[in-house]
Amino acid sequence: MESPFKEDVVRGKVALITGGGSGIGLEICTQFGRHGASIAIMGRRKQVLDSAVSALQSLGIKAVGFEGDVRNQEDAKRVVESTFRHFGRLDILVNAAAGNFLVSAEDLSPNGFKTVMDIDTVGTFTMCREALKYLKKGGPGRSSSGGGTILNISATLHYTAAWYQIHVSAAKAAIDGITRNLALEWGTDYDIRVNGIAPGPISGTPGMSKLAPEEIDNKAREYMPLYKLGEKWDIAMAALYLASDAGKYVNGTTLIVDGGLWLSRPRHLPKEAVQQLSRAAEKRSRNAPVGVPTSKL
Ligand code: COA
Repeated sequence: MESPFKEDVVRGKVALITGGGSGIGLEICTQFGRHGASIAIMGRRKQVLDSAVSALQSLGIKAVGFEGDVRNQEDAKRVVESTFRHFGRLDILVNAAAGNFLVSAEDLSPNGFKTVMDIDTVGTFTMCREALKYLKKGGPGRSSSGGGTILNISATLHYTAAWYQIHVSAAKAAIDGITRNLALEWGTDYDIRVNGIAPGPISGTPGMSKLAPEEIDNKAREYMPLYKLGEKWDIAMAALYLASDAGKYVNGTTLIVDGGLWLSRPRHLPKEAVQQLSRAAEKRSRNAPVGVPTSKL
């Protein structure tokens, strides 16, 4: 799909995207690159990184890959520094690296819980912390007038509750907390905007193939009246909005991009029946003697 944004909306910016080798992260890399940014990708798997970087370069995008695990503070530091050394500045950090698997709470080991917390939550914090020096106004490669920006990829499943996702719910809730607290502290002190994006189910992502494999997909749809998939493009457009000057007054928010799915619930009454039933109930309550419950009439 064509982008509604001008092609230079992030021109001259340098973006570092963790988990940028595949899925939503790669689409954010692609769209940022198509709109003028230079791209550094951090990921654990060399092959995945190499093929993402070649794909970006074949589109004429300046791109480089750095191997590393967001759980390792040394890796985080090295990759942020390498990005700066390679491109001479850092403007945008996108924390898209995440871990997930379906498991019931009783079958999840504490180490399984911790693993996802370490990747999603601690990893996000570590990357933000290592990038601060370069993102703050007046930092290396920056003028004293403007700071950079951070985007944390979250989710909607912790707004209510999600089956077999206790570890991810906890991790994403904590990420939303990180987003708000850094927006407050670093927005005030360093002119860095910090926002999040909460994607709904997005087709063609590792997340979808892990969490809604073909076998359970149709069954899930029966219980989800508004169930429809978003595209990676939808998330990348939200990222462009938040990272570019279009979002210059947006700080500390997590933008839900799910087509309204998290609000959906089964319809308990057909629309046609509502007016009739509601008017009848109204009439009954008007005619009821004071103090007599309508159920007794
Ligand atoms: N069900 C239950 N527990 C699981 C599990 C599953 N499907 N997969 C892993 N675990 C547990 C392991 O048993 C282990 O706990 P234990 O030591 O108590 O046995 C713990 O999680 C760590 O597993 P391990 O395989 O050593 O971790 P890893 O660092 O190699 O991999 C994961 C991390 C598990 C999150 C892996 O899925 C991953 O790398 N994911 C990244 C990609 C991804 O998930 N993308 C989707 C984003 S939405």
